[in-house]
Amino acid sequence: MKHQTALVTGASSGIGEALCRRLAREGLKLIISGRNKDKLTELSVELGCVIKIIPADLLLLEGREEVIASIHSFIPDLVVNNAGFGLYGEALSYTTEEEVGILEVNCRAVLELTLEAARSLKEKQLTGVVLNVSSVAAYMIFPYSAVYCASKAFVSSFSQSFDLEMEPYGIRVLSANPGMVSTDFSRRAGSEEENQKNPLSMDANSVADDIWKQIVKQKPLQVIDWKYRVLLFVTNIFPTRWVAKMLKRRIQKRLNRDT
Ligand SMILES: NC(=O)c1ccc[n+]([C@@H]2O[C@H](COP(=O)([O-])OP(=O)(O)OC[C@H]3O[C@@H](n4cnc5c(N)ncnc54)[C@H](OP(=O)(O)O)[C@@H]3O)[C@@H](O)[C@H]2O)c1
Repeated sequence: MKHQTALVTGASSGIGEALCRRLAREGLKLIISGRNKDKLTELSVELGCVIKIIPADLLLLEGREEVIASIHSFIPDLVVNNAGFGLYGEALSYTTEEEVGILEVNCRAVLELTLEAARSLKEKQLTGVVLNVSSVAAYMIFPYSAVYCASKAFVSSFSQSFDLEMEPYGIRVLSANPGMVSTDFSRRAGSEEENQKNPLSMDANSVADDIWKQIVKQKPLQVIDWKYRVLLFVTNIFPTRWVAKMLKRRIQKRLNRDT
């Protein structure tokens, strides 16, 4: 499938920003969204192929509606639901409203944008791809990132099921599951540990390259990169709860160091 126009959420930083650069090199026209209007404007000037900037907070109904309106007016043949965040630490150290916010952005916005993108393509009998950025965390029991982890399980599960419903119409719904990436994500989640110092941490540009390859191949599910495929394979040999308890001890040590 030759893509013409992509809409990317979370384009103002990290994986989304890197992916926009990659898509621009592939000759796509871009619709970019995020909350930071200045960053989006800078990226638009740099890339020269941005046809619309949508400054929108996906936590809010108005924000989601603005992005959905653009989906229906431009009918992009590639939609990348990349915007997302987590909150690091005990779930009870945040208010319930803060934790629900993770679900609003990581699940509700992804669900609404995916359904509306597929609906707009199907109505016009067009083909296209929705790629949802999930995480390796989707496959893990992850204390101290409980809500984030569950939100990504939703993204991967929904994407794979809905993909099978849409495939006969030539509309694909893919799930990209990266491991740790050096972006602003950890800092924003409240972690003191710098991702760059972790030997398993990947660079956003290489993750963007892998996501582009997945889009081209229309692969329903891609764990990024090979180190994390090996890690998941090995951890699956052991009982899930035992692995989760090991992880808990590791994170507890880190949390104690941070405080
Ligand atoms: N970094 C990792 O280790 C890692 C691993 C696996 C999966 N992921 C996933 O990859 C995706 C991108 O994360 P990243 O690593 O690139 O982190 P990042 O650098 O923090 O970027 C997150 C992006 O999401 C946007 N965003 C966050 N909350 C939003 C909201 N309420 N409304 C609209 N946009 C919002 C941000 O926009 P503004 O800056 O404009 O607010 C930003 O563009 C996320 O879904 C994340 O869960 C990350």
